[in-house]
Amino acid sequence: MTYARISHISEYVGQEVTIRGWLYNKRSSGKIAFIIIRDGSGFIQGVVAKNAVGDEMFELCNSITQESSIMATGTVHEDPRSPGGYELQVSKVELVYMAEEYPISLKEHGVDFLLDHRHLWLRTPRQVAIMRIRSEIIKAMRDWLDDHDFILMDTPILTPASCEGTTTLFETDYYGEKAYLSQSGQLYNEANAMALGRVYCFGPTFRAEKSKTRRHLMEFWMLEPEMAYCDQEENMQIQEQLVSYVVQRVLTRRATELKILERDTSKLEKIVAPFPRMSYDDAIEYLKSKGVDTYWGNDLGATDETMLGEIHEKPVFITNYPAAVKAFYMKPDPKRPEVVLCSDLIAPEGYGEIIGSSQRIDDPQLMFQRIKEHNLPEDTYKWYIDLSRYGSVPHSGFGIGLERTISWICGLDHLREAIPYPRMLNRIYP
Ligand code: 4AD
Ligand code: MG
Repeated sequence: MTYARISHISEYVGQEVTIRGWLYNKRSSGKIAFIIIRDGSGFIQGVVAKNAVGDEMFELCNSITQESSIMATGTVHEDPRSPGGYELQVSKVELVYMAEEYPISLKEHGVDFLLDHRHLWLRTPRQVAIMRIRSEIIKAMRDWLDDHDFILMDTPILTPASCEGTTTLFETDYYGEKAYLSQSGQLYNEANAMALGRVYCFGPTFRAEKSKTRRHLMEFWMLEPEMAYCDQEENMQIQEQLVSYVVQRVLTRRATELKILERDTSKLEKIVAPFPRMSYDDAIEYLKSKGVDTYWGNDLGATDETMLGEIHEKPVFITNYPAAVKAFYMKPDPKRPEVVLCSDLIAPEGYGEIIGSSQRIDDPQLMFQRIKEHNLPEDTYKWYIDLSRYGSVPHSGFGIGLERTISWICGLDHLREAIPYPRMLNRIYP
């Protein structure tokens, strides 16, 4: 018996194979049944003729419920009319387990219902396509970095200190001491960059966001490169190279999945470095000219980002924000200390910020001052301050949000579909 994965079915034309999967859908006319089988790697239609399999097996086929686990044996035929281009002329069907009535039928369901059944929702073609693209994006990001001399270094998830402000910390007890789930691996990454030059971490990060938006998750994945001897200009160049590579790679390797998602790929084809840049100052003037009630010194909100992202067909870097709206570790512009050497990369089509980045403070005095200004406990940050004491260098880095990137590339309405098990405001099940 030859077991075949549906994704490799083209290699088996004319041969008898067994597909091990689940029943996705079926229809039957008195003498012939069409069963659509999915095995995780793809979908294939099986044609079951009553006179070929006998009455008993034909009856079995008619009684099998949606999502029952089955093994179907048959000969592979090329058939351009069939979804996927191949068909299985079935000679034998074995039932592994009969499924109870499946809660997710092939009709429309409300979002809350689907989220409650996320563990089953994941089996449907759209979700499978998104997860395949997620996997491709991760691989593409890592391949690009690995090919450009970056070393993967894992950073801790249980930490004694905050990185991105104290208002979104998830607190936990660590043998009687307070610990927090990591908001970002950046601070450890900076130490790692001083050890290995160019590093990145990739892992889950946590933010106790109080807001319920389509762009926020409480647990999301972030890829964070950090480079020693790198200024903000080079930092932005690395970002545009990486993002262009990832988009083009998904276009070439995941065309089938993008089609399932009905993504307008002509928009993605335009995502090629270099990306346009706009200063925060100009962004504020632009927003004001469009009637937005804002002022210099105000942080950019989601609707502001959407408007700025719509100016261009490519992502846009918004640069040099006021120090007051950004994190403590960002390096002030030597020519204009009220702004910092930073950029946010705003995706087009209304997807908002996908990357936060900056050059980091390298001056020990200023680092000490900032920690004080931000009321951060000096003893917990002692190791971090050490970095500027022992051979400080200009260094920069960024964090790219995986789910935001997936949402944009896939054209999703909400981040909840971009991660297998979304953690959202008041939702931790399943
Ligand atoms: O801009 P952020 O907060 O930057 C940092 O955490 C830096 N320490 C990164 C670094 O320089 N190493 O977050 C970076 C990115 C955002 O641009 C966004 O894509 C994503 O992380 N992000 C979220 N994604 C989903 N849900 C949330 N609640 C997110 N918060 C940030
Ligand atoms: Mg940010």
